[in-house]
Amino acid sequence: MTATAQDTEVVLKVSGLEAGYERPGRHGFGRRRVPVVAGIDLAVRAGRTLGVVGESGCGKSTLARAVVGLRPAFAGSIEFAGADLASVPARRRRRMSRDLQMVFQDPYTSLNPRMTVAAVVAEGWRVHPGIVPRDREDAEVARLLDLVGLSLEHGQRHLHQLSGGQCQRVAIARALALRPKLLVCDEAVSALDVSVRAQILNLMADLQAELGVAYLFISHDLDVVRHIAHDVAVMYLGTVVEQGPAAEVFGDPQHPYTRALLSAAPSVRDRPDDGAGEIVLRGEVPSPAEPPSGCRFRTRCYMAADVCERETPALVPRGGPPQAVACHFADGAGTTAPPREGSEPDGRAGTDHARP
Ligand SMILES: Nc1ncnc2c1ncn2[C@@H]1O[C@H](COP(=O)(O)OP(=O)(O)O)[C@@H](O)[C@H]1O
Ligand SMILES: [Mg+2]
Repeated sequence: MTATAQDTEVVLKVSGLEAGYERPGRHGFGRRRVPVVAGIDLAVRAGRTLGVVGESGCGKSTLARAVVGLRPAFAGSIEFAGADLASVPARRRRRMSRDLQMVFQDPYTSLNPRMTVAAVVAEGWRVHPGIVPRDREDAEVARLLDLVGLSLEHGQRHLHQLSGGQCQRVAIARALALRPKLLVCDEAVSALDVSVRAQILNLMADLQAELGVAYLFISHDLDVVRHIAHDVAVMYLGTVVEQGPAAEVFGDPQHPYTRALLSAAPSVRDRPDDGAGEIVLRGEVPSPAEPPSGCRFRTRCYMAADVCERETPALVPRGGPPQAVACHFADGAGTTAPPREGSEPDGRAGTDHARP
């Protein structure tokens, strides 16, 4: 991390977070907690974007929902703007929720399709009065629509009359109407066509430059995260395995899982023709509710040794590169250890996996 990056104020700090869902207990008594993510540490700096990547099912949405308070946190802390969200009184928490907004994957289900666009954008002002005086609301809606590339005429339409990309613009305008410090985006562009996706990503980058809002930007799509994130956290089975500046994580990945992910996505790598073959991971992803002991990645790792079964590797910087890596063998030089028997970097160097 550069000196300037470290100097920037941290808006969101997640430490040791365990979160998941609750189920009825045995014989229907009480509730049983099922953790999905565990030991998550991450930080989002003011006006910057932390991208979170990982395969479907690794717990990204659980993390996003826990951060905005839609899922219970079983352990750990979520500090927002310097205050621990779990310990602030309800009233202050409500006030803080204004600064912490979320954009979901599907605007058709996350927003009310029967409302007009203008009413959707202004909805948050009913919950959080005092942001915009009543007599200024129309003008502010017009300004917000303009900001996200919609016209005043769109304001009178209903959501079901808009395209997916236009709806997502409305969802962004609605979130920005509260002037948040942080926007949590969970697969916010994943349902959009490629060209519309690029437009929305560019819009979000422009809005960040203009408004200074920070993004926790979650996506299973490496290309998308590569496009928008300053920093990246790579998730596997409910934990962060590697985190650091995007250029370092994508340019010089240290964790065996990150390497495997990137090996299957040459278009995301800095040097797609680096001759590295695709690393094909063996086995199935275990259930996040019953993760392997020690390193959660070990059952699929081509470098796993006995220590990986016994000891959980901490997410820490390991020598050379600036990113933090949760791997016993990533010391900046040691990740070249020979693959263990039964694993297969399959050596398909030079095959064309490039996506459009
Ligand atoms: N309320 C729930 N009930 C049952 N399983 C759940 C629930 N919430 C999450 N899970 C399980 O937790 C895992 C992670 O889910 P999620 O956080 O949605 O992952 P992602 O967003 O990375 O795809 C999945 O295996 C999912 O089935
Ligand atoms: Mg999800």
